[in-house]
Amino acid sequence: MEKIIIKGGRPLFGEVTISGAKNSAVAILPATILSDGVCVIENIPNISDVTAIIRTLYELGATVKYLNKTTVEIDSRGIRTHIVPYSMTKLCRGSSYFMGAMLSRFHKALIAPPGGCDLGVRPIDLHTKGFKALGATVNTENGMVDLKADKLVGSSIYMDNVSVGATINIMLASVKAEGLTIIENAAKEPHIVDLANFLNSMGADIRGAGTDVIKIHGVEKLAGTNYSIISDQIEAGTYMVAAAATGGDVLVKNVIPKHLESISAKLEEAGAIIEEFDDAIRVRRTGVLQKCDVKTMPHPGFPTDMQPQMVTLLSIANGTSMVTETVFDNRFKYIEYLTRMGAHIKVDGKVAVIEGVDHLTCAPVKAVDLRAGAAMVIAGLIAHGVTEIEDVQHIERGYENFIEKFSCIGADIRLVETTRTAQPDVG
Ligand code: UD1
Repeated sequence: MEKIIIKGGRPLFGEVTISGAKNSAVAILPATILSDGVCVIENIPNISDVTAIIRTLYELGATVKYLNKTTVEIDSRGIRTHIVPYSMTKLCRGSSYFMGAMLSRFHKALIAPPGGCDLGVRPIDLHTKGFKALGATVNTENGMVDLKADKLVGSSIYMDNVSVGATINIMLASVKAEGLTIIENAAKEPHIVDLANFLNSMGADIRGAGTDVIKIHGVEKLAGTNYSIISDQIEAGTYMVAAAATGGDVLVKNVIPKHLESISAKLEEAGAIIEEFDDAIRVRRTGVLQKCDVKTMPHPGFPTDMQPQMVTLLSIANGTSMVTETVFDNRFKYIEYLTRMGAHIKVDGKVAVIEGVDHLTCAPVKAVDLRAGAAMVIAGLIAHGVTEIEDVQHIERGYENFIEKFSCIGADIRLVETTRTAQPDVG
């Protein structure tokens, strides 16, 4: 077991380079199942969610070769099974994309529901609504989702709720279906566009990704491809918030500034100075942090995956902020730990009311999920004293080399092995 130890109170200064996008990688990797050739994917982040998906592909029968640290060559033609057991899906939410990919390739899939962060109930009804519209039957037996289709035929699918996962799964299932599929009220996240670009680079015919109507003309075959995935919007946003929260000056490199607009806007409102370059963003703050209200929304709104980090920053802002979580129903669990560090926050349903305090103080805390873990790191960086964070494995799911990256911009942060406390001998 490991824990993070942070000595707080140091502003962050310097440059940090952002890795490839987790949420793109976990969609694009299963999409290689649809290819009749070899796929070389560059800018793969070295994080445990991605490792879990690559391992699953390998265990299913794909040939996987790392060409260098961030480039992987995958030949999925060797996959002969349509069954993905819980041991393979439990670690990562993105493993749900094996449903769409397997259904497209084999016209059947038997898949355990995905793991990932516990953010409340995470239904898959919109995914299955899409599969059914394409002609599949959907049953759940013994904890496995059983999908079958004689053939997949394009259809018009209206998403009752904007869902990233369902949009991706329907894209995967329909890309080789007969005829035209139209996804209305589709998610517009950057990784939806990235997946569409990846599939189009293999010969797919997908238009409109990034808008709320995606049109997919089914094609018979998809070839191999070379593709570089985009940089991670949320990793970038996390370093931006950390820079502003600590009163530092950080150049966040290898980013797409357009993807960060909602985060930049809120940081500016909170008193940070933002400078945009072609593929970098500089965030600095010299004045006092000011309150601001934030509402999480699907892209291009403020991302729910940045909510815990932003709440942490606002916990030391001047005034009372209101943060409304509209995407997930259980994403404030980490606030218990912020209050242990001296934050004044009250949660009422979907709203957190944050009365800014002068400073946070150290406390033993936990990373309750991936982004909550990032929030605890930011809390540790701004707190007085030495903060210890347990359950670090959640953070490792989504942040490549975060100890090194934070250290390089001046954080006093380290990872230590914890020894188990000896159990009393009860005979
Ligand atoms: C993805 C991201 C996650 C991000 C989230 C929202 C990946 C691997 N994960 O998660 O990091 O926080 O988008 O940007 O890309 N919903 C339904 N029925 C469904 C599916 C979803 O009601 O069938 C609801 C969910 O409960 C939630 C909302 O739709 O309230 C959005 O969820 P969704 O966009 O699907 O999130 P994920 O794809 O799970």
